[in-house]
Amino acid sequence: MKKIKLKIKTPKDSETIMTEVVCPNDTNPMGILQGGKLVQWMDIASAICAQNHTENICVTASIDNVKFKTPAKVGDIVTIKAKITRAFNTSVEIFVQVWSKKVISQKAYLINEAYFTFVAIDDYGNPCEVKGLKPVTADEKKQYNAALKRKEQR
Ligand SMILES: CC(C)(COP(=O)(O)OP(=O)(O)OC[C@H]1O[C@@H](n2cnc3c(N)ncnc32)[C@H](O)[C@@H]1OP(=O)(O)O)[C@@H](O)C(=O)NCCC(=O)NCCS
Repeated sequence: MKKIKLKIKTPKDSETIMTEVVCPNDTNPMGILQGGKLVQWMDIASAICAQNHTENICVTASIDNVKFKTPAKVGDIVTIKAKITRAFNTSVEIFVQVWSKKVISQKAYLINEAYFTFVAIDDYGNPCEVKGLKPVTADEKKQYNAALKRKEQR
């Protein structure tokens, strides 16, 4: 396994915000954003977050607790926030939340959230050590502590 010189980073350092507009091609015949399309956007946002933290190529290892709470419709503005909760040995857990906003009313709703796990990969395709994470805020510390239990359950 490739060893790297570790440097501690905070969750804010790699926090990633991605914005999309729901277009007709992204929807089902009811004009509702397809679940697979939304998960693809979430995967991209969380991969950017994981790679900015690890400064390495990362692959998706698992996705848990994907919850489709409310539909997004054509024309809605979708904002995806990806934030690292914990760095382990070669993997990182990323918490992703998604909001959909109506253009006219400017009302935003939480439509989805999920935990993604990424594994950092070296030049030979083997998992490699990731940088440490120092949670700062009370919420970051709560997520950090709970992440270990989620990893054990996985
Ligand atoms: C993810 C992958 C690299 C793990 O490789 P592996 O040889 O099984 O790795 P190991 O058993 O040594 O585990 C390495 C890390 O991955 C984590 N991991 C492995 N499988 C996992 C899973 N299903 N869910 C969450 N984490 C997982 C381990 O917990 C470990 O983390 P840690 O080092 O931080 O404790 C490998 O299974 C793989 O390449 N999968 C395909 C990935 C892919 O194609 N993704 C979609 C495109 S990006």
